[in-house]
Amino acid sequence: MQARADQLRRSGKTTAFVPTMGYLHEGHLSLLRIGKQKADDLVLSIFVNPTQFGPNEDLSSYPRSLQDDLDKAEKEGVDAVFVPTDQALYQEGYQTYVQLEKLPQHLCGLSRPVFFRGVTTVVTQLFNIVKPHVAIFGEKDFQQLAIIRQMVRDLKFAIEIVGAPIVREADGLAMSSRNAYLKEYMRPAALSLSQVLQNSRKMVQDGIVDAQLITDRALDIFSAFPEIKVDYISICDPESLDPVESVEGRTLMALAVALEKIRLIDNTILQP
Ligand code: PAJ
Repeated sequence: MQARADQLRRSGKTTAFVPTMGYLHEGHLSLLRIGKQKADDLVLSIFVNPTQFGPNEDLSSYPRSLQDDLDKAEKEGVDAVFVPTDQALYQEGYQTYVQLEKLPQHLCGLSRPVFFRGVTTVVTQLFNIVKPHVAIFGEKDFQQLAIIRQMVRDLKFAIEIVGAPIVREADGLAMSSRNAYLKEYMRPAALSLSQVLQNSRKMVQDGIVDAQLITDRALDIFSAFPEIKVDYISICDPESLDPVESVEGRTLMALAVALEKIRLIDNTILQP
């Protein structure tokens, strides 16, 4: 992959890169379509990164479908798919991790203490292997995107980071590989996330900007689904991720819940 990247660079070509953990859905494909427009060459990686899963998380059951993914990649005009083994990225004696100080101390980082350290470590490795000019990440994982942007700024990676809007199912559910775990009867509960966000946007449009009021209403909606355990409801600054008391300018509302052990996240921008 590095030799390929060097060769492409020598011939003056640019590379766009979309890192994923596979089990591709329309959200992933939307990133590939953006990548296709942004550079001459398009690289996809598929790697279920063990270092970003906690000991009690779903590493072993994470959905995988390599052949199906490769077919989808080919249809989208991907030029190369990088599918490393665990050993290739974390060889015997591996001991280097990339970790941010502040941004991971919010939202998902609080309940998933090793998650972002794993993400920034693997993305650094992938950047050094694929050597892209542009990399595309989804706003579905808003905090991940913020962390990658910060890391690229701090470590002087010469890579443009592009954020892509959340792709949703027709009923509003944000697409996710983990949706494969959802049983049909869980659908109404799973939809409560996008309903909370929609309701919150409406409240802000109607002039209700108090974060506590918006949060209380969200808790109300979730309380109709006893099978939902709320991890966090955060109304915060979209750059620092620090909580705000009232929605003044562009504000992030981010949610994470467990629905019968299935972790679901979603977010939206609130704007008075
Ligand atoms: P994964 O969950 O496979 O997601 C890969 C990329 O697809 C991420 O940038 C994510 O934000 C984006 N994505 C997922 N669902 C989306 C949706 N509904 N709409 C738009 N974009 C969506 O995120 C990871 O993998 C990993 O943490 C990774 C960055 C690959 C590092 O291991």
